[in-house]
Amino acid sequence: MRILVTGGTGVLGRPAVPRLVEAGHEVRAISRSPRSGRAVDWRVADLASGRGVREALEGVEAVVHLATLAHRGRRTASVDVEGTRLLLDAAHDAGVGHLLFLSIVGVEHAPVGYFGHKLRAEQLVKEGGVDWTILRATPFHQWLDQWLARLPVHPVDRTVPWQPVDARDVSGHLVTLLSQGPSKTVEEYGGPQVIATDELVARWRRARDRRPPALMVRWPGRVAAAQRAGLLNAGPSAPKGRITWAEYLRPAGRAVPAAEEEPDIAGEYGGPDVEPRGRKDRVYGQDEGYQPPTQV
Ligand SMILES: NC(=O)c1ccc[n+]([C@@H]2O[C@H](COP(=O)([O-])OP(=O)(O)OC[C@H]3O[C@@H](n4cnc5c(N)ncnc54)[C@H](OP(=O)(O)O)[C@@H]3O)[C@@H](O)[C@H]2O)c1
Repeated sequence: MRILVTGGTGVLGRPAVPRLVEAGHEVRAISRSPRSGRAVDWRVADLASGRGVREALEGVEAVVHLATLAHRGRRTASVDVEGTRLLLDAAHDAGVGHLLFLSIVGVEHAPVGYFGHKLRAEQLVKEGGVDWTILRATPFHQWLDQWLARLPVHPVDRTVPWQPVDARDVSGHLVTLLSQGPSKTVEEYGGPQVIATDELVARWRRARDRRPPALMVRWPGRVAAAQRAGLLNAGPSAPKGRITWAEYLRPAGRAVPAAEEEPDIAGEYGGPDVEPRGRKDRVYGQDEGYQPPTQV
């Protein structure tokens, strides 16, 4: 099948594009910058301005829509919402038979900021006149890794659970969904384990041997509240990836210090075992608890 991939240079796109090629598809991909490669037909196109989008869709049977510009306010809307609208119009005119859209598990429980943009884009996909599948995933290992590496301070809310998933597993699932054709349903996909923030952060600190200052805090905002309630994790019957956070951080064959098996973030930080009462919690981050993986 001839497929157009948007966002093929991103965290998910990087493993997804070779998977699609391996599966026997003829892959065309767009980026705002010129690129070349033997196995992929790279085209320059921009979803915010529309430049190159219609040309890139000529002769395409299916679109895998991964492009995003997370956490940039109006610029996010111009790519994630208006860009999706523009892509859908062009895909409809080009006779595309299936648009597979990547979203995030639980966006409807905290439709603010980036999550709000994702929810609006989902709605456009459902109404866009092109047969569709929406795949909602939990946060990627690769994104969490970049996020923790970038933070000068690690804010740790041990009441918040994560179900991180590996972008390579998501790529494999995406290829399967594409082969099944448009389902006109919203599917979920999560990581193999649910782990609390303290364990997640402690594992990263040990694996990367980096220990910026850490604070035990209570994350504010609607996204954190939804995540605390477990609403950003995939449902129990959703398919799951195989690679755990520990395996992602510790590729096979690498020696592991014994202490890595039982991380104790409070002990490591010299922090409290329980959240302190009667003290104003330190405030962290935006309303969203989800930071952009790329700088643009
Ligand atoms: N990261 C996560 O943890 C996570 C979790 C669940 C779901 N998701 C979803 O998965 C999808 C992929 O996320 P990701 O983390 O791989 O994103 P990412 O690493 O931030 O990559 C963003 C991609 O979007 C492209 N892009 C940005 N602006 C564009 C524009 N104006 N026109 C065309 N392309 C543009 C970029 O391409 P160029 O820079 O080459 O132009 C890049 O390939 C998104 O829908 C995201 O919401 C992500």
